[in-house]
Amino acid sequence: MSLIDLSCRPKPFLKWAGGKAQLLNHLKPLIPHHFNNYFEPFLGGGAMFFYLSSNGLLLNKSYLTDINEDLINVYKCLKKSPEILLAKLIANERNYLKDPLDFYYKLRRTVYADNFEKAAQFITLNKTCYNGLYRVNKEGKFNVPMGRYKKPMICDVTNLRNVHLALDPLGVKIECTDYGHVLKRASEGDFIYLDPPFSPISKTSNFTEYTTRGFGTQDQENLARIFTMLCEKKCKVIVSNSDTKLVRDLYKEYKMITVSSLRSINCQSNRRRGTRELIICN
Ligand SMILES: C[S@@+](CC[C@H](N)C(=O)[O-])C[C@H]1O[C@@H](n2cnc3c(N)ncnc32)[C@H](O)[C@@H]1O
Repeated sequence: MSLIDLSCRPKPFLKWAGGKAQLLNHLKPLIPHHFNNYFEPFLGGGAMFFYLSSNGLLLNKSYLTDINEDLINVYKCLKKSPEILLAKLIANERNYLKDPLDFYYKLRRTVYADNFEKAAQFITLNKTCYNGLYRVNKEGKFNVPMGRYKKPMICDVTNLRNVHLALDPLGVKIECTDYGHVLKRASEGDFIYLDPPFSPISKTSNFTEYTTRGFGTQDQENLARIFTMLCEKKCKVIVSNSDTKLVRDLYKEYKMITVSSLRSINCQSNRRRGTRELIICN
């Protein structure tokens, strides 16, 4: 008999470019049976964290980090006080339905000082913008146009409460930081899932605009060096990335699995297509 209460299983609450929900079936068999702390330094929508959490696999500390400050603010608010956020989201859902176009662009333009207002704005725009994309301009301002949804679910009350429970106050550390910084804390027996922005499969496909800084070849090379260091420390590491020559070269000494996936990173849905991804592990 399972000890997990299925009704309380949290799931990713954001649409996130490069989200790993689709790839999870390929990743599951590679998850170590025993590990100490868990690190997810490219958190995004956190598909792996929510899988581990809802299956009772996180027994020690989890370090959930990402460079995107606004994204991390959402996780922090949900951890701290979900009810404040839920009330704002319910109000947003009501106001959106009155006049979607007017509401969307007004909300996109508004600059909030309060963290809970910012978090509600982030989730609302994520649920109502074009394809759930996250893209910022050079000034760091979110610039995705409105999507086409008649009645988007902006506030999934049950799931957001379950997410709050999963972000348990003692076990889960949430921080806005660069991957290189947090990984210094990993040690023997820890499990690390690395899901960086994709290495571009062509010159025109470089969707790495989660931040104004981007994620270029040097970052991919640096990450591969950190991967080797983590292997030397006897950590258990899984990386997922696009199937490119660069990624194959960087990890050529390690076990590599090729999988097909439907990428949802192209903003033109008719140009989304099946592509290959690589899963690398030690
Ligand atoms: C492919 S997405 C991760 C998707 C995630 N696994 C999921 O299930 O949704 C990559 C993430 O890396 C983050 N990122 C980009 N550059 C970073 C950096 N230098 N340090 C940490 N995170 C970074 C982006 O903000 C983005 O959320």
